[in-house]
Amino acid sequence: MDKIEFELYKNNNIKQVWKVCRIPWINELFDFKAVNFLSKFKFGEKIFNKYISVRFAITHKPVLPYFAFFVTTKCTLNCKHCNSMMPKYTEKTHSKPIDFKSFKDDLDTLLRAVDYINVFVLVGGEPMLAHDLPEIIKYAASQKQLKHIVLATNCTILPSDELLKVMKNPKISVQISDYSHVKNIKNGVKVKYDEFKKLLIQNKIRFNNYQEKRGAVTWFSMPKIYKDKQTPLTLTKTFNECFGNYCPTISDGIISQDFIAVYIQRNLELTPEIKKEIVNIREAKSSKDLTNEIINFYAKPYSAFCHYCHMDNIQHGLPCGEQVE
Ligand SMILES: C[S@@+](CC[C@H](N)C(=O)[O-])C[C@H]1O[C@@H](n2cnc3c(N)ncnc32)[C@H](O)[C@@H]1O
Ligand code: SF4
Repeated sequence: MDKIEFELYKNNNIKQVWKVCRIPWINELFDFKAVNFLSKFKFGEKIFNKYISVRFAITHKPVLPYFAFFVTTKCTLNCKHCNSMMPKYTEKTHSKPIDFKSFKDDLDTLLRAVDYINVFVLVGGEPMLAHDLPEIIKYAASQKQLKHIVLATNCTILPSDELLKVMKNPKISVQISDYSHVKNIKNGVKVKYDEFKKLLIQNKIRFNNYQEKRGAVTWFSMPKIYKDKQTPLTLTKTFNECFGNYCPTISDGIISQDFIAVYIQRNLELTPEIKKEIVNIREAKSSKDLTNEIINFYAKPYSAFCHYCHMDNIQHGLPCGEQVE
């Protein structure tokens, strides 16, 4: 890696381990002991970043600050402004709920290539749609290289006793979205937010319900997506301002920049530039090759996916969870 690439890698990876832990909704999910303690001191962040740099110098493997695993792109709800772009998928482009074997194969491959993953998020779509979720979570929780595990859910499907049992682990925290106020939900689906929350409390399972805690949380609209060729300056600006610049997301073995990039990768025709950027862990020749691909993934000034994203007309203050008509 040359000097410029290392500077980018430092910003997009090494410094993000600290930054991700300090994002309010993530910080509320876990007690990030070292980061929270160091944050009380003027040079705390610098010391922590040095520690992550030294780990990298020794292991030559990256720490992944945040890594989202798409359990499925399918969902029980159909939110108009979904940040996974769920309503825009078709039956053909959706990824079905993952089974345990595929999950284990992908996770094992990934963990051989990295130092550790700090925040590992099981997301979708609606992850509770996966029948093998108890087995998936039990296996994830047993992996020393996964430090914190999050399950994000819309609370339309209640957890089984088996799932509750495996979630009773301080490494796991559930991010429960509150869509109880949402009207015109179709197909007989019901939001069971209070029941879900009660089960988590009864079973002493960690959770964060930031929407309820902060009152009427509002959403923002997603960027307009179309094939385009933008200047490096615009792309760097888009990348640096994007909510997705810290969350590589894997779906069916393919790592893309974030949730929106997964949508682009699964639904649109890809340019050669994008094809070069995506990392297919199921096709990696060796763990060492995969490590290098992941390092290169972080050491770029912007993502080739940013060519498709147009952020000029983002609306804020939208009602959370509003359904497609
Ligand atoms: C994409 S959802 C997936 C998990 C689950 N289906 C759910 O809705 O909680 C992950 C998180 O993104 C939030 N989210 C979705 N669309 C959003 C938007 N347009 N603006 C802000 N947050 C959004 C959801 O509230 C949820 O907390
Ligand atoms: S519940 Fe809504 S926000 Fe969550 S994935 Fe489904 S459609 Fe998207």
